[in-house]
Amino acid sequence: MDPTEKIVSLTKRRGFIYPGSEIYGGVGGIYDYGPLGVLMKNNLKQLWWQWMTLDHEDIVGIDGAIITHPKVWAASGHVKGFVDPLTECKKCHHRFKADDIDGQICPDCGGELTAPKNFNTLVPTELGVIEEEKVKTYLRGEACQTIYLNFKNVVDSTRVKLPFGIVQIGKAFRNEVTFGNFIFRLREFEQWDLQWFTRPEDMAKWYDYWKQARMDWYSSLFNHPENLSFHQHEKLAFYAQKAFDIQYQGREMEGIHWRSDWDLGRHSQFSGQDLTFEGLIPHIVETSGGVDRCFLFLLLDAYAEEGERVILKLHPRIAPVKVAVFPLLANKPDLVAKARDIYRHLKTQLHLSTIWDDRGNIGKRYYAQDEIGTPWCVTVDFQTLEDHTVTIRDRDSASQIRLPAAELDTYFTNRLK
Ligand code: GAP
Repeated sequence: MDPTEKIVSLTKRRGFIYPGSEIYGGVGGIYDYGPLGVLMKNNLKQLWWQWMTLDHEDIVGIDGAIITHPKVWAASGHVKGFVDPLTECKKCHHRFKADDIDGQICPDCGGELTAPKNFNTLVPTELGVIEEEKVKTYLRGEACQTIYLNFKNVVDSTRVKLPFGIVQIGKAFRNEVTFGNFIFRLREFEQWDLQWFTRPEDMAKWYDYWKQARMDWYSSLFNHPENLSFHQHEKLAFYAQKAFDIQYQGREMEGIHWRSDWDLGRHSQFSGQDLTFEGLIPHIVETSGGVDRCFLFLLLDAYAEEGERVILKLHPRIAPVKVAVFPLLANKPDLVAKARDIYRHLKTQLHLSTIWDDRGNIGKRYYAQDEIGTPWCVTVDFQTLEDHTVTIRDRDSASQIRLPAAELDTYFTNRLK
């Protein structure tokens, strides 16, 4: 089976990702995150947010709305420029992105293809209840636009000075012509964006800085950073003067865009508001990544089969569950009571995502945790009742150590640093 198929099956079976509206037959390109998926996605977003806003000076965050004034998308250039040329086979009527097709012949049946036609990928929506008063607008086609819309608000309400950054994690919507490949190309997805505002003469310096900093950040999360690479765009989006992607195994994960003064200039022009700051329209370096894509690539990177074991070797800070606690035997009340004390303590005092399991034999419990990427399993056995020590089993090495239960807090806190 292809690795993505294994991930699709595992993530559905164990509650990471479900097809959207599945009981009604699903909606193409839309997925929901389940109980483990939401934990992992939140961990990931929190790491990104902390790295951006705590590990750097001069970066502030916002959380903008999905629905904006309709003029935004004319000003941004998306109404005109956000198009996918599409071609259709005259025989089997399958549709393809013209950019993906080499030649005039349908890759599915060999039929003749129509000339490419442009389709706008913005998702329209309407606001208002009275038919004649309805206002047509669009769901956010790229999250970053709300950062530009709030540029003036941020500089007026904070103490930022050039250069500085505004970050946001938020949903974006696109009527992708060819969606699919699980959560790789979605019609509703999440982006994490930095817009770094600077003077034009400093653009080259900052572009190189952010390009490398983002690559270093991703490299610290992946077990196999050798699968990450840069790809320079020859065909540029309408807003970009220079663009590199960070790719995982040749597939785009994040774009580093030299947006210059295009965005603030256009919004200044269309809104009639003065968006100059410190005497000029700031220029922008953008780092714009797909949260869902990063999620998928991390799963592919973490997936391993060792004998009978399927393991998700996720970075402990990303793993949805940090610790599983087991009583060696479920029918021994002393063991269960002691294990439950430890479980409750880790969950409610140390605030660690902790799971309880007392089903089946201990080997099966370990395997079940390996498959969801839980880095550590704590087992309470008969020796615990005598000397208050427990075993800690490590996911990746499958080896065990014994520690006083009282030292668990320090142990996990250090391991999660
Ligand atoms: N603001 C710039 C921008 O939106 P983009 O290259 O179109 O640039 C940035 O998107 C990132 O968003 C991509 O690198 C990708 O990770 C993610 N992305 C874009 N379209 C996506 C889709 N249909 N499904 C999932 N992620 C997507």
